[in-house]
Amino acid sequence: MQITARQAAALHGIVEAPADKSIAHRAAILNALCEGRAELTNYLAGRDTHLTLRALRQLGVRVETPPGRVIIDGCGRCGFREPLQPLYVGRSATTMRFLAGLVAASPITTMLTGTRRSNVRPMGRIAKPLRTMGASVMGRTGDLAPLSIRGGVLRGIHHHLEVASGEAKTAVMLAALQAEGETLLTGPEPSRDHTENMLRAMGAVVHSEEASVRVQPMSVPLRPLDMRIPGEISVAVYWLVTASVHPDAEVLVRNVCVNPTRTGLLDVLGTMGADIEVIDRGMWGPEPVADIRVRSARLTAAEIGPELVPRMIDEFPGFVLAAAMARGRTRIAGADELRRKKSDRISSVIQEYRRLGVEIEERPDGMVITGGRRLRGARCRAHGDHRLASSLAFAGLVADGTTSVDGAELVERVSYPTFMADVNRVARARDGARAVVAIDTE
Ligand code: S3P
Repeated sequence: MQITARQAAALHGIVEAPADKSIAHRAAILNALCEGRAELTNYLAGRDTHLTLRALRQLGVRVETPPGRVIIDGCGRCGFREPLQPLYVGRSATTMRFLAGLVAASPITTMLTGTRRSNVRPMGRIAKPLRTMGASVMGRTGDLAPLSIRGGVLRGIHHHLEVASGEAKTAVMLAALQAEGETLLTGPEPSRDHTENMLRAMGAVVHSEEASVRVQPMSVPLRPLDMRIPGEISVAVYWLVTASVHPDAEVLVRNVCVNPTRTGLLDVLGTMGADIEVIDRGMWGPEPVADIRVRSARLTAAEIGPELVPRMIDEFPGFVLAAAMARGRTRIAGADELRRKKSDRISSVIQEYRRLGVEIEERPDGMVITGGRRLRGARCRAHGDHRLASSLAFAGLVADGTTSVDGAELVERVSYPTFMADVNRVARARDGARAVVAIDTE
């Protein structure tokens, strides 16, 4: 499918941030380890999060999906059934990593596989600590999927994660809960802490300090956690950035998770001079949620270094539009982890934004963007990456003329189910026509 976006005359309105993918995966998987029934609302209706539920069913977890809800009857520690088929995770490396940790203590063999891209994403960061804990993890050369995991009797470990990865940390924490003895995990920088927050709410003993976390094995079963999944800042980013750089915009993005481990983008946009207000703060389960109001502003360039990268790791494709429209040179450094996402988000982002006329230089660990030029509409490609596709479609709302994005079905399929309806409600093209249209190209 191709999405075509036209330059918008104005952006005015209210949008509900779609459910956070990262929190949705955790809510399903952590509840599978509890004993009893949990009810989730606002679960993300997307491909990756659907595959997580399907994999849990294959492991013997009862998962029901009546309209608007997901009900999970957790199996408790080691209650999983050996799946007859490999668990297929599609494009979701998150699902693969979390499931590996979940099954690492069960006396079953689990095979995990995904798309070609998922099967070349790094799994050594979970395979190595899980092996040290006592699980058998086999993969292709270089610890790549497909993976085969034979659960074992696990022991707690002290382990340093080379990369500040919320996913690797979560995989090891899931195993640590089912091990004997405490596990201590350290890392170069703090990473998102939704797992810690949810586990504490479920009664687990988890202590975190800066970039380290200590997990005690569960001595009693975890309590199921009912939860309404908050909205995702990694999707809200498109509105925050597009409304900031558009000359006539005011948008309210509702119910965004503003967990401080995820709000690096708000800090950066603040230093660039964005007009952003965070209002109506509250809590949805263990996560802070707020509405975010954004108005047009004149942005200046920013410096982004390694300490900020984990706090905005999924926001870069959207953020580049802000840098492209800001006055001055924006440098992004210490972000080589972007090369290992759903696409190589350094080279794919540069390739596609250049088509729109943006001046960007590639660095091994980031990029330098010279902002301030007008963008011109062009034909772009999604590179199999929903976040890149979304960011290009939004860039099309400010670029001159028309921008089209091939492969953009991923936007609604993976992370933003109401993308077309939201954009066409808030934005209008200059001639009064719809701002975005989808063309079936299959
Ligand atoms: C995620 C963590 C990040 C992020 C991914 C989701 C998570 O990955 O890019 O989309 O749910 O913990 P890393 O932890 O590998 O950086």
